[in-house]
Amino acid sequence: MSSSVEQATESTRILEDRERYVARGVATTPLVVARAEGARIWDVDGREYVDFAGGLGCQNTGHGFAAAAIHEQVDRYLHQCFMVGMYEAYVEVCRLLDETWPGERETKSLLVNSGAEAVENAVKIARTAAGRPAVIVFDHAFHGRTSLTMAMTAKVVPYKQGFGPFPGEVYRAPAPYPYRGVSSDDAIRGLELLLKQDVDPVSVACVVLEPVQGEGGFVEMPADFPRRLKEICETHGILFVDDEVQAGVGRTGPVWAIEHYSVEPDLIVSGKSLGGGLPLAGVTGGAELMDSVQPGGLGGTFGGNPLACVAAVEVLREVKSDAFRKRAEELGARIRARLEQLAARNAAVGEVRGLGAMLALELTDPTPDLAKAVTSAARDRGLVLLSCGIYGNVIRILVPLTIDDALLERGLDLLEESLGDARAG
Ligand SMILES: Cc1ncc(COP(=O)(O)O)c(C=O)c1O
Repeated sequence: MSSSVEQATESTRILEDRERYVARGVATTPLVVARAEGARIWDVDGREYVDFAGGLGCQNTGHGFAAAAIHEQVDRYLHQCFMVGMYEAYVEVCRLLDETWPGERETKSLLVNSGAEAVENAVKIARTAAGRPAVIVFDHAFHGRTSLTMAMTAKVVPYKQGFGPFPGEVYRAPAPYPYRGVSSDDAIRGLELLLKQDVDPVSVACVVLEPVQGEGGFVEMPADFPRRLKEICETHGILFVDDEVQAGVGRTGPVWAIEHYSVEPDLIVSGKSLGGGLPLAGVTGGAELMDSVQPGGLGGTFGGNPLACVAAVEVLREVKSDAFRKRAEELGARIRARLEQLAARNAAVGEVRGLGAMLALELTDPTPDLAKAVTSAARDRGLVLLSCGIYGNVIRILVPLTIDDALLERGLDLLEESLGDARAG
């Protein structure tokens, strides 16, 4: 047997076992990873890929960034449960989250395991502090797959179909989406109507907004929208929760995407890249607001695991540095310029959009078909690429922000070639 056939067998064997043993509901690509470093991935057959996905937005600082700190912690201890035996790394992550807070107030934080868990906790905190039940979310939002966050998420297939009944007191307002004709004015009018027609503002605890909608299609909020939303919140005593799970931790340049809008939220929800590849998410807010919940009301067995915390300390120190921000901004400008050239040459691209290095192409094909063909062609060519969007027709870039120019250009070449393959195919 030739070595290439033997090698191909390794992925195939694992994929066959995956079909047999792993639940179908966990959607997967055929990529079987052996190793990753920076913005490169190698599969089990030794094939190298440029990584434009970063494990779904979790590698802003690159694969392996905090490995040394994690190795050191592995030899000391893995788990204590912060509620049983405290450790400094948890406290240090919270201190760094305070240092990066986009405002003047003193903050406190809670650490948990996943973005969805953090969003749920932000709602718990907002409800307790406000003494009100309702939550307002937006069109195209994604906040997670748990029961409450599933109700907050705006996509039936695959996230909600068959999973009801959903928790109550979740209301949805329009979100700006200029490419599809929804302006800030339209969205604000829709919210005001919601507050007249469906929910009394005095029963609303919080709004939850992604400054750049992630799974919904990398739709960045127009410059005026978060401020106008905040004004409405202030009028009615509603808390402003900023979901930065995908847009945060340096992805758009500043540590938090909301910094582009000069709006101070009441709570920030972080996750994904925070743990540098380990599961960690957080809720940060004013000390008094965070302390509105009684001791024992927040937490969990593994929340703020020591390995994830030592990694997050490294990540936060890095992403708040001027050098990281400068590089993220440079990469954003470079990627945008290439995507705009590509769009000018390619009628299949409807819009280039995003903020900083959180960039995407919305294709004119209103179905997921072309985007799927592009991501599949990209894999064949050696590029890991993801789609997103309510219509599944957006190609998004979540490249590790430590990538060098040559590898980035190679990845962008592969993206352009893949679009060509998919259109021809
Ligand atoms: C904006 C946003 N919020 C929440 C989540 C849920 O995070 P997790 O998958 O870690 O539960 C995601 C995940 O993609 C997200 O993009």
